[in-house]
Amino acid sequence: MELPVPSPLLSEQVLAARVEELAQEISEDLAGVDEVLLVGVLKGAFVFLSDLARRLTIPRRIDFMAAAHYDGATPTAEVELIMDLREDIRGKHVLLVEDILDTGATLAKLLALLGARGPASLKTCVLLSKRKPRPDGPVADYVGFEIDDEWVVGYGLDYSDRYRSLPFVGVIDPPQPPPPPPTSAPSPPSTK
Ligand code: IMP
Ligand code: MG
Repeated sequence: MELPVPSPLLSEQVLAARVEELAQEISEDLAGVDEVLLVGVLKGAFVFLSDLARRLTIPRRIDFMAAAHYDGATPTAEVELIMDLREDIRGKHVLLVEDILDTGATLAKLLALLGARGPASLKTCVLLSKRKPRPDGPVADYVGFEIDDEWVVGYGLDYSDRYRSLPFVGVIDPPQPPPPPPTSAPSPPSTK
């Protein structure tokens, strides 16, 4: 598959500076808690979570969940939970760390799931949020950058599992999915 070259949107330096700001803000807000459990949403949040976790100044532990809502750049009917947490979060302070808010369906599903388990607190931090209406959608407590409604890759974000290890965030025009095969029309009667 020929992959498009991303146009740079957020450089390594810009990302690092904003992650530092977010880490300071979160560390101040949660200064009184004994420990925060950072829950990264795989795969997209793995780079952001790793940078954020190393810049926080409060006691913290790390766990992961995995969810999928896209096939390439096309949303699937349901958000699929691929991997759940291994630990009980009852009574714990949880910060859900996600790469990007698009329709909001992934965050809404994970918040409902985790909220029902009785955490002491549940906050959300997303690196990116696409500017688009989400009438009943979730609102993240911490947002790194508001961006246009385009497909972005790099710094953990993918298109068909590619580009994740790019150090910057760039925009691509996702290749269109191949059209469905034509339904075979009945062949005309032979004239021979
Ligand atoms: P939502 O459920 O529509 O909000 O989509 C959120 C999930 O879809 C994120 O966890 C990402 O994994 C993925 N996603 C949405 N938009 C993009 C994008 O522009 N680039 C890469 N992944 C995206
Ligand atoms: Mg994701």
